[in-house]
Amino acid sequence: MGGRDTTLVLLDENGIRCDGRKVDEPRRIMIKAGGLKNADGSAYIEFGDNKIIVGVFGPRDVHPKHMSNTDTGILRVRYHMEPFSVTERKNPAPSRREIEISKVIKEALEPAVMLDKFPRTAVDVFIEVLQADGGTRCAALSAASVALADAGIPMRDMVAACAAGKAADTIILDVNNEEDQAGQADMPIGYMPSLEKITLLQLDGVLTPAEYKKCVETGIHGCKIVYELQKKALTEKYFGNGEK
Ligand code: CDP
Repeated sequence: MGGRDTTLVLLDENGIRCDGRKVDEPRRIMIKAGGLKNADGSAYIEFGDNKIIVGVFGPRDVHPKHMSNTDTGILRVRYHMEPFSVTERKNPAPSRREIEISKVIKEALEPAVMLDKFPRTAVDVFIEVLQADGGTRCAALSAASVALADAGIPMRDMVAACAAGKAADTIILDVNNEEDQAGQADMPIGYMPSLEKITLLQLDGVLTPAEYKKCVETGIHGCKIVYELQKKALTEKYFGNGEK
């Protein structure tokens, strides 16, 4: 975890966090399916102050050809942060962090996507972070699942993602940027709710076994909230107001 800001009160005497939330309360989440007309599927997510757009292309031919697999399709993921997405301008060149996040999101999506249904082809997922405020990998992974579904890619389930963590010695849901910097632990989780399978679990920080268990349960609770909003986004696009 980053250096501590001693002036920041992460949890006050009433159990209220630095952004006004309760310990088990996620930030405001808005998910929209579609939006990019040149993509085969797309989605936009606002997760607190995170703003992320995802475009999916494919299944399509693989170039260079030797990267294709005759038995199965391949998934390629690029997570990219706009230079203006963070307070201190980010170099537009891919950073180690972006390469790592691209890899973990790809590996978190692979168990959900039925790659064997489209051998020799590739599905490309392009993630553009327009504004970042802690938890972009979870928000991006959730939006990528919706974009894949919007593209009609056969899937076993959608991956919903949310982080849990520890700040002021308390397990909290959905870690924001301040809590990530000054808190004690951050645990991003990707979860397929219908299949009850975790596809992403990272941990930055130190937890006792009991805290670890509570953190996983809290994160999964957050994923289930996100899952409902993912389904709502697709229902709204394909069935109007979601009531049909
Ligand atoms: O975004 P996520 O929590 O998945 O990944 P992280 O590596 O833990 O980054 C936490 C946060 O740090 C990001 O969401 C950004 O708000 C911020 N960050 C930044 O300010 N400048 C960067 N070059 C990278 C990240």
